[in-house]
Amino acid sequence: MDLRAPEGSTPTLNADAPWAAFDPRAYIDHNYRDLLNADAEILERVRDHFSNHFRENFERPVLGIDVGAGANLYPALSMLPWCREITLFERAPANVAYLRSQRDRFDDHWDSFWELLRQEKAYEEIHTDRRDRFRKAVRVRSGDLFDLTRRNLIGLRPDMGRWQIGTMFFVAESLTGSYTEFRRAVECFMLALAPGAPFAAAFMEGSSGYDVGNQHFPACNVSESQVYDILKLYGKVDIWRLGESSHMVRPGHTGMILVCGHRNADFAPSALSTWLNMPFRRHC
Ligand SMILES: C[S@@+](CC[C@H](N)C(=O)[O-])C[C@H]1O[C@@H](n2cnc3c(N)ncnc32)[C@H](O)[C@@H]1O
Repeated sequence: MDLRAPEGSTPTLNADAPWAAFDPRAYIDHNYRDLLNADAEILERVRDHFSNHFRENFERPVLGIDVGAGANLYPALSMLPWCREITLFERAPANVAYLRSQRDRFDDHWDSFWELLRQEKAYEEIHTDRRDRFRKAVRVRSGDLFDLTRRNLIGLRPDMGRWQIGTMFFVAESLTGSYTEFRRAVECFMLALAPGAPFAAAFMEGSSGYDVGNQHFPACNVSESQVYDILKLYGKVDIWRLGESSHMVRPGHTGMILVCGHRNADFAPSALSTWLNMPFRRHC
């Protein structure tokens, strides 16, 4: 049973949404052409979370991943000082093309996000080289996050627990209308992270869908407590709700939720049971 589906209705599943029609330019124009208040607050917290972690724990450059990177570079920029490689993992073909186009020289409007990051020393230290560092670190990988770790459970892929820092922004709740799939998307992200890895994840609160250009995409309506209850299974987390009117980026959501934390060393038993109950073919 899908816990969030209103009685009698069937939620749109990830496989049924029009990802091939996702327009990165329309998405950027609406969300990231300028630095909005909500993103500034999120970015400051994520910057401080990663800086605090690596101030104590930095031995050598690590592997990072941004899951469902879409047309947003600020999660990748937030990981840049510590990463030798950052995988930008994305499903929609036009977003993959956009990310590839940004590798050699990311567009100038991302510099307003960088300005906020460079208030911390680790970012300031690479300020002059930031574009070169980004170009060398970024690997754009086209794929489906539900495949990211699943096959690891039967030993076919080495990705589980591979990434030592990770981000997933506005993805798990914004790729499906199904609460079950939302949970699985969170699990896929968390299982991709190495024990102890610092991570940040952001969620739209109270959203039932969103438009990019003329195209509608599904969302799962989640609350702060639902997000917390799932994320705490996988790590030690801090959670913030951004619910002021200045945090709203469009009609049809009630706020944003940010979670920063560290991946547990152990494998959450509830996750294992969810995975074992998953159909082998996704969504069937
Ligand atoms: C609302 S956008 C968020 C994009 C970006 N992370 C941001 O912060 O703005 C949701 C993203 O999830 C991607 N996505 C949807 N289903 C996916 C899947 N199964 N695997 C990987 N990415 C997926 C979409 O293509 C889109 O880029």
